[in-house]
Amino acid sequence: MDLTLSLDTASAKSLQAQIFDQVREIILDGQLGAGMALPPSRLLAERLQVSRNTVLTAYERLAAEGYVKARGTAGLFVERIPPDSLLLIQRGSRIKTNGPIPDASSEPLLCFAGSPGGGSDRPELDFWVGRSDVESFPLRIWRRIINRLLARETTYLTDYCDPAGLPELRAAIGTHLRRARGVSVAEDQIIVTTGGQEALNVVFNLLRSHTRQLCIENPCYLGASLIFNATNLTVHPIPVDRDGLQTDLLPRVRGSLLYVTPSHQFPTGATMPLALRLALLRWAEETDSYVIEDDYDSDFRYDGPPLTALAGLDGGRRVFYVGTFSKSVGAGLRLGFATVPRMFWDEARLLKARMSNGQAWLEQAALAAFIEEGHFDRHLRKLRQVYKARRDCLVEALRRSFDEPELLGWESGLHLVWRLPRGFPSAREVQLMARECDVGVYALSSGAAYDFDADAPDDVLVFGYSSLAEPMIEAAVSKLRLMLEGGGATSGR
Ligand SMILES: Cc1ncc(COP(=O)(O)O)c(C=O)c1O
Repeated sequence: MDLTLSLDTASAKSLQAQIFDQVREIILDGQLGAGMALPPSRLLAERLQVSRNTVLTAYERLAAEGYVKARGTAGLFVERIPPDSLLLIQRGSRIKTNGPIPDASSEPLLCFAGSPGGGSDRPELDFWVGRSDVESFPLRIWRRIINRLLARETTYLTDYCDPAGLPELRAAIGTHLRRARGVSVAEDQIIVTTGGQEALNVVFNLLRSHTRQLCIENPCYLGASLIFNATNLTVHPIPVDRDGLQTDLLPRVRGSLLYVTPSHQFPTGATMPLALRLALLRWAEETDSYVIEDDYDSDFRYDGPPLTALAGLDGGRRVFYVGTFSKSVGAGLRLGFATVPRMFWDEARLLKARMSNGQAWLEQAALAAFIEEGHFDRHLRKLRQVYKARRDCLVEALRRSFDEPELLGWESGLHLVWRLPRGFPSAREVQLMARECDVGVYALSSGAAYDFDADAPDDVLVFGYSSLAEPMIEAAVSKLRLMLEGGGATSGR
């Protein structure tokens, strides 16, 4: 076949690179189909008026990258599968969509840069939930650790790590869990994951075949509901009250898998008292069930003694603990972990290998050094002070501005909730009104939470306070007060 190529001798790109690019385009566009021959190099060189070596170099590269293959002396022939489709390179003219791009607001996505509270159209005074403070990120130390690692060890950049995670990081996580959460786990019970979300997926998939039905606190974390709702198993939503999940409502059926956030229920902020935690463990034992304990923000407890995690009380029998560094260091790291009873570890490691074959080395190594060298503990101490001051400021501002507001879940974590009084507009209406004033407060349905009861009262507003400095918190609450005084507070519910 005759190839129509046009070369630009004035271009900075070499002639052989231009030939390579254009022939590759022709193959990828399907003009030269599988099995068709490239024109002989001598012929093409004559036609293009370039040296034969220039064409040969381009052809060699096409062969080396798998676009064409030599068949003896017969010449070069186009391969059946163009390598680009294997590598999933997206090229403008070839992108095909199978429908309109969905409206982002109709898709319940988790916290990402384009979700409510994310992206470029964030309100200026934004209480989006669970975002750690940008200013407090330990950039200087992080950069130093990264530079040191890159100066010392580059082989890991080109090699695979253990799919369960870097041993140093697993050891550091184990030490932290023992000291801070009373969870006694060895390095070979920990799987490092892409944030807490993947840890939930790993545990869920691990226990899928042992599970006959699912139990989940209601309302719950959207990320957990997305996993549970995507199965064909029966889901039992268990209501939450001021003490968290109502353990007496757990179904007495064997082989359940329960998802729970006992230290700081998401989204209501309730902390489950010890007696109920023990009741929950008894239920798991008696019904031969397993529990996923999502301990997403427990590094931040401001009032009262630290609570032992459920997994610490259970002693590694029925509780699979899920943790994340998204709150304590930064969500952009995408590092989290799951701990599993020893007998499940080999299977969990294999599962993680199947899913992604491990995590990026550099971030794991940096985080391990960050923890081992004591920076993590110092960072947590600093963050606790910063966030406690913000929490105090928000609680005071709300109490000053509104009549005895019912605030819940403020003892720990990065968010609290306000149950709106009777006579106020619904939480969703307040959210929309606040947005007009450049303030971001969120109804449960928008605040990364999910309610299985579509008719649940819409009277809870979520305030994530961790990424707003005190003056901004004061300004936001003043705006809310003016807004609600200015007419909204007596309409609606
Ligand atoms: C309750 C809860 N669990 C788990 C996660 C998982 O976080 P990530 O996947 O960012 O580590 C989050 C994040 O906001 C959360 O709020």
